[in-house]
Amino acid sequence: MNPTTIETIPLPETTEPEYVRMQDWSLHGRTALVTGGSRGIGRAIALSLASLGADVAITCYTGCKFADDVTAQIKDFGRRSTSYSHDIAHPAEVEKMARAIESVFPAIDIVVNNAGITRDRTFKKMTYDMWHGVLAVNLTGVFSVTRCFIDGMADRGWGRVVNISSIIGEAGGFGQANYAAAKAGVIALTKTLAIEYARKGVTVNAIAPGFVSTRMTAEVPERAMQSVLERTPVGRLAEPREIAAAVSFLSSPAASYITGHVLDVNGGMLMR
Ligand SMILES: NC(=O)c1ccc[n+]([C@@H]2O[C@H](COP(=O)([O-])OP(=O)(O)OC[C@H]3O[C@@H](n4cnc5c(N)ncnc54)[C@H](OP(=O)(O)O)[C@@H]3O)[C@@H](O)[C@H]2O)c1
Repeated sequence: MNPTTIETIPLPETTEPEYVRMQDWSLHGRTALVTGGSRGIGRAIALSLASLGADVAITCYTGCKFADDVTAQIKDFGRRSTSYSHDIAHPAEVEKMARAIESVFPAIDIVVNNAGITRDRTFKKMTYDMWHGVLAVNLTGVFSVTRCFIDGMADRGWGRVVNISSIIGEAGGFGQANYAAAKAGVIALTKTLAIEYARKGVTVNAIAPGFVSTRMTAEVPERAMQSVLERTPVGRLAEPREIAAAVSFLSSPAASYITGHVLDVNGGMLMR
């Protein structure tokens, strides 16, 4: 009997070609949900996924008037879109949102957990309210939304979950104990879900942006922002669409063998 070598192991039967085609980057025929799609990074993600062919549902909370503009633009692309207002911090509201979204879009293929807040304060001055408030939106919110949709993806044998973490979840941040803990929790949750769903056709990944030009960073004091720019080799903040590009890739059929990954999009601020 011949020894088993790479050459003698039969290749799996496949109808897939041996190269990547244009359609492997396309999201045509997919439906996505982007939480916090009303503004900032979420808005850029929702518009990008739609421009790549997906129908896109978005959620909003205090900025639902901005959400209407996003859904209108998505419809202009010839895609379907709807928005839903809810407080992601409350699991019952998330479940109501999921039922409402599913009545319009019965099969969500891509979930982008983007909604997030900051409540910065030095550890000494951080209150339980600030701690719980950030954990409830930024970590429990990801848990609540994902559990509404991921088993449907697994049943259909295809799905993508992309969680928006942060460089702060990897490296910590002054005055951000609550935010750093939540975003590090998102990374750990991402890896665990990636393991549990890997054989069901569902990939689960995280993006760790550096500092992005949105209303969230508009609150950062000027001196702190100067230090951020000095520590960023690219020398500027990211634009929201640069985060959306990474989300689009991880959401695409082309990214089928990437799971449990944390993709840094930080202009070189943290290299490993
Ligand atoms: N900007 C950065 O430098 C940066 C860096 C790393 C990671 N991130 C992460 O990227 C994500 C988006 O941030 P951003 O900069 O785009 O912030 P943003 O402009 O403030 O947008 C935040 C989004 O989250 C939604 N949201 C907030 N609280 C919510 C709640 N309780 N329930 C439902 N939705 C809620 C907002 O909805 P409404 O506007 O409708 O209230 C909004 O759409 C966040 O997870 C953030 O932590 C941002």
